[in-house]
Amino acid sequence: STVEYGLEAPFEVEFHDSIPSTNARARDLAQEGADDVVVLADEQTGGRGRLDREWSSPSGGIWLSVLSRPDIPATHAPAYTLAAAVAVARAAREAGVDARIKWPNDVVVPDTGADGETVERKLAGILTEMEGEADRVSWVVVGMGINANVDPGDLPSEAEPTTLLGEAGGVDRRLFTQRVLEEFDELRGDLDAVVPAWREYATTLGKRVRVDTPGGDVVGDAVDVTFPGALVVDTGDERVTVTAGDCEHLR
Ligand code: BTN
Repeated sequence: STVEYGLEAPFEVEFHDSIPSTNARARDLAQEGADDVVVLADEQTGGRGRLDREWSSPSGGIWLSVLSRPDIPATHAPAYTLAAAVAVARAAREAGVDARIKWPNDVVVPDTGADGETVERKLAGILTEMEGEADRVSWVVVGMGINANVDPGDLPSEAEPTTLLGEAGGVDRRLFTQRVLEEFDELRGDLDAVVPAWREYATTLGKRVRVDTPGGDVVGDAVDVTFPGALVVDTGDERVTVTAGDCEHLR
């Protein structure tokens, strides 16, 4: 059902109690020609993460996908994805959570145990899908999976998850979603502002990393992120610019 959301951003919001995947639904809407639609669900039964992983999406979360038709080349789409991570991190900070962004777009919260070891627990992930020509995308679907009012025990422990319930005692999901969408709308209109904003929340910069890229592992110090969202890794021998891959923080 379409709901009135009191948003300043120009999105129409379609809400589902339960749906297989908001990204899949948003892709269908894209094929029908829709634009600026947000698909939101309380629960997903077939949620998907990056690299075709399953994404646990129990009731109480904020599972949403934003469909838009920006006038950008496909190569700029990573900035769109980073914008979503920044939007979620900002909303989480406003809720009192020490949210940071692990390259490229995992929103994490540090958790230091009694042994002094810090684990970065994942609060949210972003999955972007798109279609179109290289020089101009036809549509982009940015999926945001935010572990909101969910018991961390209801999420797979190997994902080292955390939730807004655990970090902040829970949030008003409507207000939180509103803040995320407003921030995202602002950033998508000013893509040059995305990387500087992203750097403010970065946890990856300054760390030793291993990035599992399509061309093999890159190990070194993460020194910068450049437009539209590439990670610059100093391997000791050279500076390598990595545009995609899974990133592990080594220390
Ligand atoms: C990741 O692997 O970190 C990305 C997770 C993205 C999950 C969200 S939940 C809303 C949208 N619908 C999906 O099926 N996936 C994304």
